[in-house]
Amino acid sequence: MAYQPSETRYEKMIYKRCGKSGVMLPALSLGLWQNFGDVDNIVNQKNILTTAFDNGITHFDLANNYGPPPGSAETNFGKILKEEFSGYRDELIISSKAGYTMWDGPYGDWGSKKYLVSSLDQSLKRMQLDYVDIFYHHRPDTNTPLEETMVALDLIVRQGKALYVGISNYQAEEARKAFDILKQLGTPCLIHQPKYSMFERWVEGGLLDALEEYGVGCIPFSPLAQGLLTNKYLNGIPCDSRATRNLFLKEADITTKKVEKVKQLNELAIVRNQTIAQMALAWLMKDKRITTVLIGASKPEQVLNSIACLDNLHFSEEDLTKINNILA
Ligand SMILES: NC(=O)c1ccc[n+]([C@@H]2O[C@H](COP(=O)([O-])OP(=O)(O)OC[C@H]3O[C@@H](n4cnc5c(N)ncnc54)[C@H](OP(=O)(O)O)[C@@H]3O)[C@@H](O)[C@H]2O)c1
Repeated sequence: MAYQPSETRYEKMIYKRCGKSGVMLPALSLGLWQNFGDVDNIVNQKNILTTAFDNGITHFDLANNYGPPPGSAETNFGKILKEEFSGYRDELIISSKAGYTMWDGPYGDWGSKKYLVSSLDQSLKRMQLDYVDIFYHHRPDTNTPLEETMVALDLIVRQGKALYVGISNYQAEEARKAFDILKQLGTPCLIHQPKYSMFERWVEGGLLDALEEYGVGCIPFSPLAQGLLTNKYLNGIPCDSRATRNLFLKEADITTKKVEKVKQLNELAIVRNQTIAQMALAWLMKDKRITTVLIGASKPEQVLNSIACLDNLHFSEEDLTKINNILA
């Protein structure tokens, strides 16, 4: 039987305006960086995506290199879209990116027009889509003139292959320059995708101010520090965790110092009647400059657990001070 989305899917989710644009994004979005490659179970992939959509998550984030192998997350997502979500494309915001190594030779990496335009063509084929809603430059490239990269983003929109553009991993100063160029070209930047969590707060040093000033939205990635800001590692490293599976979160990253902080955060989360994951997500959402928080999940239950952060988004001054003291 074909998947029938829940009729109540828009009842609980909060939707926020992305910067000064016309686009509303759900308070939580789902990323397919991990758990959607050819090495991962396709039925589980479907279940994660349908659970997310059933609960109001309308935004799915991809990139050319997600897998493994690179490209396979887009291929699998394309298949699932066709099989399960046909008829629902207009209820979805789908993004992809290029900027990291994707294919051999000088044209499969960084920020040239050649790379960005051909990479998006490949992404569209893999996902069986005519266009993506958002296309990002995935990381800054100091060797390519910023004008060339931004002209490539503008061109992609004019070609109808993306509706909006974004940048990711740009520091405040380079982001400001990119926003100025895009504005001049007539394709304003919709959104910035930085790494931001309780454990990684660099964006507070100027980037968030720049986003507010320019009316650009913000979608923090790895808000749970890849699983560290959950109850997952409180008592060792479980065998079904990311830390045992790949190179991006190593067992060595689960330090005693970090686990100690997570234990203290856990005590506060319990008082707030939340899980640590829920508190870590709500903590990001307290800043009005954050449009949507980009979670990952290896199981549908994690999506449900994370969405329940919406039940308590309030932080007292005392809570915030306690959190800052723990994180210091
Ligand atoms: N622009 C960039 O450069 C960039 C870089 C990285 C990521 N991203 C984007 O950001 C998305 C999210 O990144 P991320 O996967 O690192 O995010 P994350 O939300 O910090 O980590 C997700 C992991 O945390 C664990 N988890 C999630 N929810 C949980 C819950 N409620 N309870 C317990 N554990 C939970 C799971 O780990 P287990 O797998 O161990 O179960 C899950 O795979 C990516 O998919 C991608 O779209 C972008």
